[in-house]
Amino acid sequence: QVAAASGHTVVLVDQSDEILKKSTKGIEESLKRVTKKKFADKPEAGAEFIEKTLKNITTNTDAAAVVHSTDLVIEAIVENLEVKNELFKRLDKFAPDHTIFVSNTSSLPITNMANSTTRQDRFGGLHFFNPVPMMKLVEVVRTPMTSQKTFESLMDFSKAVGKSPVSCKDTPGFIVNRLLVPYMMEAVRLFERGDASKEDIDVAMKLGAGYPMGPFELLDYVGLDTSKYIIDGWHSLEPNNPLFAPSPLLNKLVAEKKLGKKTGEGFYKYK
Ligand code: 3HC
Repeated sequence: QVAAASGHTVVLVDQSDEILKKSTKGIEESLKRVTKKKFADKPEAGAEFIEKTLKNITTNTDAAAVVHSTDLVIEAIVENLEVKNELFKRLDKFAPDHTIFVSNTSSLPITNMANSTTRQDRFGGLHFFNPVPMMKLVEVVRTPMTSQKTFESLMDFSKAVGKSPVSCKDTPGFIVNRLLVPYMMEAVRLFERGDASKEDIDVAMKLGAGYPMGPFELLDYVGLDTSKYIIDGWHSLEPNNPLFAPSPLLNKLVAEKKLGKKTGEGFYKYK
């Protein structure tokens, strides 16, 4: 959405036409929200902006069939290293030499993904934040093999889509998640110990620390499955780090498919 809105030609790829239809509808709804504010007193210009943006997006169910015409591939599939590596390995065969590959992973090692291709110097991370149209940050992740030219292209691209990039080495959680995920897990542990209610913890962090959402609202917003993937991955790397300890309550909710806002229930219920 943000790439198309800033004039880039985008091919959105997913596994089925049904998912692609849903995604396109989601983009349209989000564009309407953005436009309402940006073009408050110019509804015609707003409608034109939406039409123009949507025209920049085509969809496809086969990444290998469309990758030949891309300069940049942004992967945002399931948080499973093997599946990601398999995809990158396949695309590497069909993509032009100059094409840069990036992952939007929340916490998996970019270096490992780069090594599944023959373009380690043209490989990095571009980590966006939910909701992407609103959050100004992008983390640009460079591995020891990412070339200076690739890094600069990724910084330029981030700015061209209207974001403020920061750079980080390929370390677990990069900057934001390395701080945010242990904080959210500490909130769950505080609640599990019965020291405060989840409602009070959320109010406390909003009114006492100025956060736009409390930790439980944010966990539900991001998706409990995503947070569980991240913490489980870190726990297996550093089993003795108490900040990375799994939470029985989080595990229970995920097992019950209560994944947050997207499934209608997580820590809270949604209509
Ligand atoms: N698309 C377009 N616009 C959107 C939007 C979307 N998906 N979601 C919200 N907006 C717009 C609304 O239209 C509204 O615009 P307006 O000011 O013109 O009315 C504006 O954002 C504010 O929305 P709301 O009034 O509905 O609600 P809030 O004022 O509470 O803002 C929020 C919503 C921007 C989500 C804010 O609560 C917030 O910043 N929350 C924290 C989000 C955060 O921490 N994200 C990072 C998560 S971590 C992550 O993503 C990393 C991953 O790896 C796990």
